Amino acid sequence: MTIQLNPLASTEQKNLCDTKWGYGRVHQDARKKFTRSASMVFGDLNNERVEKFKIFTEDECAEFRRRIDAGEDILADRDETLKIMERVFNPELDARLIAFFNSEYVPEGVQVEKVLPTETPHHSDCWHCDGGPNKQVVMIIYLSPSEADGANTVFADPTNTEYLKALGYLFCPIEARVDDLTPLYDHYGLAPFEENAIDLAAGDAVVFQAANIMHKRSLPKIGPRYVLVVCVLPSPLPWREACEVKARPFKIGDQDTFNQIPEDQLP
Ligand SMILES: [Fe+2]
Repeated sequence: MTIQLNPLASTEQKNLCDTKWGYGRVHQDARKKFTRSASMVFGDLNNERVEKFKIFTEDECAEFRRRIDAGEDILADRDETLKIMERVFNPELDARLIAFFNSEYVPEGVQVEKVLPTETPHHSDCWHCDGGPNKQVVMIIYLSPSEADGANTVFADPTNTEYLKALGYLFCPIEARVDDLTPLYDHYGLAPFEENAIDLAAGDAVVFQAANIMHKRSLPKIGPRYVLVVCVLPSPLPWREACEVKARPFKIGDQDTFNQIPEDQLP
């Protein structure tokens, strides 16, 4: 397969989401209204664009897995979803998120995923950066441990991500994503980049700058992979208040994750 390249794709993405759809304006407003800069703590989420955090205990994960296996939708009840968010945004993660956004934040969308080793790979299993606002954080909270060679999220480093952005691979149409970039690297005479996957226990989250670090899902080989995904965006209001005002988080899959923000909702 020929790899499609469009060097304008990342600029077009920014123009669409951050400028035309209004996400950039919301972030600017959020930064202006931010008052907790004394609590910011910088770390790998800023520098390496990826960081691991402990969120749930093994017992909590076992209970989530039991309910998912029983066919229960653990995000069906809004009050319970907000209680789960209380556990997710612990003080350590909060300090890092406000440092990254330089503002308050809101859980925009949530999703539970159970994936079996027999699953057919799709576009998430190919190298990509997430479309949508440039300033977004995705948390993938593992409710089951990663495997030595699977059931994980695999990352490139910031340098190679920027290289592939400049080359025009990233933000191409979803159908044009590939799971192996070796032919492209060979074509340019470059050594292949290192693929980084973090060892994860049940309850650990990989938290990353989804639009700015290239990644792909790796399917499990041994047992099911259970995750809770939370997409986080900057917000002028602290997250509990923002959830009330904006009816967040929504369930990813029920609607498009990102849309044009209506003019009357823009700052
Ligand atoms: Fe992604």
